[in-house]
Amino acid sequence: MQSIEFYRSEFISYLEKKVKTREPRNLYEPITYILNLEGKRLRPVLVLMAAEIFGVDYKKALDAALSVEVFHNFSLVHDDIMDRAPLRRGKPSVHEKWNVNTGILSGDAMLIVAYQLFENYEGPMFKDLAKLFSKTALEVCEGQQYDMDFEERDDVTISEYLRMIEYKTAVLVAATLKMGAIVAGASMEAQDAVYDFGLNLGIAFQIKDDFLDAFGDSETFGKQVGGDIIENKKTFLYLKALELGKPEQKKELLDLYSIRPGDPTAKINSIKDIFIDSGAAKTTETAIGDYTQRAFKNLERLDVSADKKASLKEFGENLMRRQV
Ligand code: IPE
Ligand code: IPE
Ligand code: MG
Ligand code: MG
Ligand code: MG
Repeated sequence: MQSIEFYRSEFISYLEKKVKTREPRNLYEPITYILNLEGKRLRPVLVLMAAEIFGVDYKKALDAALSVEVFHNFSLVHDDIMDRAPLRRGKPSVHEKWNVNTGILSGDAMLIVAYQLFENYEGPMFKDLAKLFSKTALEVCEGQQYDMDFEERDDVTISEYLRMIEYKTAVLVAATLKMGAIVAGASMEAQDAVYDFGLNLGIAFQIKDDFLDAFGDSETFGKQVGGDIIENKKTFLYLKALELGKPEQKKELLDLYSIRPGDPTAKINSIKDIFIDSGAAKTTETAIGDYTQRAFKNLERLDVSADKKASLKEFGENLMRRQV
């Protein structure tokens, strides 16, 4: 087992070798652009780590790792259109740099490329990977639809929210680990345990994403801080503030979430105050820790050495502490 940093840098070298701009440039340039912006590369690293944890050389899992990173970036290109997000990883999002139609088509091509990469696996392994991928990708679409539906609703519950983030974010994190396990030919029990680890980690990850969207540092965060507030997203912070806030805080929050002011600065600041004063910010941080601990609990079901489990724990702890 190598370090997390080792897998990240091996993955980046592979991506640079495989992803090249060709004709027509307006289709492929946005693809190389988004894939070369500095992302955290969490999902491909998890594919490679899982492969080695279950006993094969990570090199066998590089195409699956590239597939999930291409799919993830496809989902970001379309997500930024849907969320009207101007910034991604500190740079203009694809539809800002080019236009919406380019974002749609380059995104479509990326989804196809992601599928195509599984053709590098034979027979039953190809089938298992493609099946898991199709199921996961469709769930991501379902999650994204709930996310948009919730913008228009003011009666979203925490359990609806949790299902939404499970689908839009956590299932992909879970699937990456399972893909690594499939490539390694791990048992069904092992595949399920590592999937459940990823699912809980993915839930913690999205709650942290919500937290950073409001409280991240605009100098380093790389996305528009307050973007979720501008779009009236029903985040964990928002739902907890409604649950915990005093009646007047609750009323102010509902009022602010019913408007879309031209300059959102005052709205963002007032809402962040409510998130803090109501105790929602603290509760959100606690929830991130709780879901991370739940993820770690699933590792007990895994029959692999302690140092391998420690690598996955280190990965989870880094996610909990991240500022980007
Ligand atoms: C952003 O994912 C989308 C979410 C599911 C929250 P990441 O935070 O992993 O984005 P990059 O790839 O590191 O930029
Ligand atoms: C994104 O959720 C989930 C997917 C892209 C499928 P967000 O909309 O919160 O992700 P960011 O914050 O834009 O990265
Ligand atoms: Mg978004
Ligand atoms: Mg979104
Ligand atoms: Mg977000």
